[in-house]
Amino acid sequence: MSDVRYDKDWLFFCQTAFMMLTQLTPPKIILDTDPGGDDALALLWLLSLEIRGLAELVAITTVEGNVDARLTFNNACELLQLVHLNHITVGRGMVKPNPEVGDASFIHGTDGLGNLAATLPACHLQFEKATASEEILIDKLNQFPGEITLICLAPLTNLAAAEKHSPGILKKAREIIIMGGAFTVPGNVTPQAEFNIAYDPEAAAIVFNSREDLVILSLDITRSLIFTPKMAQEIAQIMPKSAIAQFIVSLCQSMTKTSLLFRETQGIKGFLVHDAVTIAYRFYPEMLQFCRGQVHVETAGNWTKGQTLMDRRHQAKIEANAWVATQVDAANLLAALVEDLKKLVEYYQPK
Ligand code: BDR
Ligand code: CA
Repeated sequence: MSDVRYDKDWLFFCQTAFMMLTQLTPPKIILDTDPGGDDALALLWLLSLEIRGLAELVAITTVEGNVDARLTFNNACELLQLVHLNHITVGRGMVKPNPEVGDASFIHGTDGLGNLAATLPACHLQFEKATASEEILIDKLNQFPGEITLICLAPLTNLAAAEKHSPGILKKAREIIIMGGAFTVPGNVTPQAEFNIAYDPEAAAIVFNSREDLVILSLDITRSLIFTPKMAQEIAQIMPKSAIAQFIVSLCQSMTKTSLLFRETQGIKGFLVHDAVTIAYRFYPEMLQFCRGQVHVETAGNWTKGQTLMDRRHQAKIEANAWVATQVDAANLLAALVEDLKKLVEYYQPK
């Protein structure tokens, strides 16, 4: 089934007029991601804001993580095809398996998208011919210094590679928003470590040293973000035949099965949309609370490799590199996600 844009010219006119009248420019964003079921929902959420003129997705830089680099590249490309936004550049990640940690296909399916990748419109880009993700990061940050928001939903391999090749480049980002880490809660791949950080702790260390205003959104707050089949159905009711709606429903079904199996959701039917919290932070910041601190990552421990730490003792500190989220308004975040995804589905009307 193919979709066409719904009243796109009129909607585009209204949005452009609104932005001109209010003199607002949408933030330029690069999404660094390893799709990934929750990455997919975060991307669709961002695109729902993009079609309304509220965001400008400059590029997607894919990275190895939930599944291997080829699959994450392919998945990002197919998701863009699903929403007819295939003009957006997709970078290819380094093939860099971590046999100690392994991938997260036990949650996200062997293809990374709940075994639904084959149901999406095919990707016409070739992994081998694509530009390396770190090159895209370097180019775009040099092209738009101080303007790009880096939203990171995956191991920080690409950002670290860019910083190694071009020291200081990450300082050229307007801001860096990271989903990763676990501070006061258990990890999800080891007793102490969260997947994105544990997969490439050395990369995380480089990024944590790159600037003093990182935004870190960890498992401490994302464990309450359960996206349920009921929410998926609510989105689908807008237009049940929409390919986007059908994908969201099937993805939720598939992810719910594995999430229950691995006891991720306290027995509640649904799956954790960790990565979606980054979009909430950028566009609905009132939903989060933060504390400031110096975040470190353990790169050497036998039992604690990949652990993120922050000194909470009430002793004077001379350094801080991050804003770490301590609370999230989960109910409102999920409500905004559902409403915005409805708008995305509405924007495309099946023939
Ligand atoms: C993170 O790990 C991945 O499996 C998810 O996509 C998310 O980015 C949560 O720990
Ligand atoms: Ca991810």
